[in-house]
Amino acid sequence: MYKDQELRQQARDAVEKKKAIVSSDPYRPIYHIAAPTGLINDPNGWVQWNGVYHLFYQWMPFKTDHGAKFWGHVSSQNLVDWQEEEIALTPSDWFDKDGCYSGSAIEHNGQLKLFYTGNVKNDGVRETYQCLAVSNDGIHFEKKGVQIELPEGFTAHFRDPKVWEQDGEYYMVIGAQTDKEEGAVVLYQSEDLSDWQFQGILAEGFGYMWECPDFFSLDGYDILLFSPQGLDANGIDYRNTYQSGYVIGSWQESFTFGEFHELDRGFEFYAPQTTIDDQGRRLLFGWMGVPDQEEEHHPTKNYSWMHQLTIPRELVLENGKIYQQPVAELMELRDELIVNQVGSVHTDIPKASELVLNEITSEKGYIKLFDYATIEFDQHKQTIRLTRPAFDDGELEERVGIMEGELTEIRLFIDHSSLEIFINGGEVVFTSRMFSDVSNRTLEVEAEGKLSIWSLKQKF
Ligand code: FRU
Repeated sequence: MYKDQELRQQARDAVEKKKAIVSSDPYRPIYHIAAPTGLINDPNGWVQWNGVYHLFYQWMPFKTDHGAKFWGHVSSQNLVDWQEEEIALTPSDWFDKDGCYSGSAIEHNGQLKLFYTGNVKNDGVRETYQCLAVSNDGIHFEKKGVQIELPEGFTAHFRDPKVWEQDGEYYMVIGAQTDKEEGAVVLYQSEDLSDWQFQGILAEGFGYMWECPDFFSLDGYDILLFSPQGLDANGIDYRNTYQSGYVIGSWQESFTFGEFHELDRGFEFYAPQTTIDDQGRRLLFGWMGVPDQEEEHHPTKNYSWMHQLTIPRELVLENGKIYQQPVAELMELRDELIVNQVGSVHTDIPKASELVLNEITSEKGYIKLFDYATIEFDQHKQTIRLTRPAFDDGELEERVGIMEGELTEIRLFIDHSSLEIFINGGEVVFTSRMFSDVSNRTLEVEAEGKLSIWSLKQKF
């Protein structure tokens, strides 16, 4: 208990001490959830409880690097305005002393329950425990300790429990690495959320570790979402250090599934987590980063913070593919309509804006932002290409997405140092950081189509 109080105080002190420098960063987002100070990564415990959205995240308050993670916490009534809450979990106990690693939330008997991984390292040897913390008010959590120990047949890379309820039973998927150093997702089952039965491997087949699994049904299909590590780049696929994607499957004797699809084509996207809300929407947040990718080159570390999350997105299944759309509530962010015209344009725009280009009639075209990121389309090849300078040497690098049919819409969410690109209502999505010259506000659109641009409101 004493350790927990001490860590909370140290984290609060760190935020207080760094507040001025963090908020002075011209790269600081104004409507995205970002590290208060230090480093954030995965969204965790994403849930709507008693009508309020609760989102937790992996947080290292003391440095812009990974380490013994805390769970930070924000809440919202409307997915647009967010309130900072007290720290939910600190790495204060023997079973989580080197990090309260990723996990999920579920409501049960009027309480909010968090399942997370206790990361422990003794003399460089990793141990992993699946742990529980419980709350009556959604703000203060009481740890209940270890619920599941590492089963035989797996290395200690066994983490990130995601729990859900189905037909009165509880299920949990965990990201795993087998003794043969192959990535997998395992399944547990419980009747009461406290006695868990190991059901074996749900899915495996490529890569050396699968992190952050999520399992849900969308439009009648079962989706397994996860972040595999160890895939080699292959043409336009798997270009980032680690991937994030999904398989669509069904239960017969076991879970059989089809091809692995990357969920996002951008440079920085990882460890997404979903929940279902009271309107029946499947909502997703992702981390706008990738482990072991370019972190030493993020300029924001000079301002004592690193990383942010994506905007909230709604998932729908169309033509056997997951579409990601910005949630409808984000229209609330629109401030002024600053461009509303047909055809090409060369102008200045604010660093926080939303752009929609639709009714596109040109065969080819491009959007160039802040002389930094270029989005090119080719109707004939059905390609969308995002190009930007690499963080380390400034050499141009690219990511490519393929559309099934015609390009009908490009929608951009721009927030100082981030860019989220939604093509054709979310058929292809690119999520990326963008460290353009802070004084450069230029926008070039070379395309025939209807262009609308809004400045966006500040929320943080
Ligand atoms: C994914 C991940 C998880 C782990 C957490 C630690 O980014 O490595 O597997 O629980 O981050 O912060």
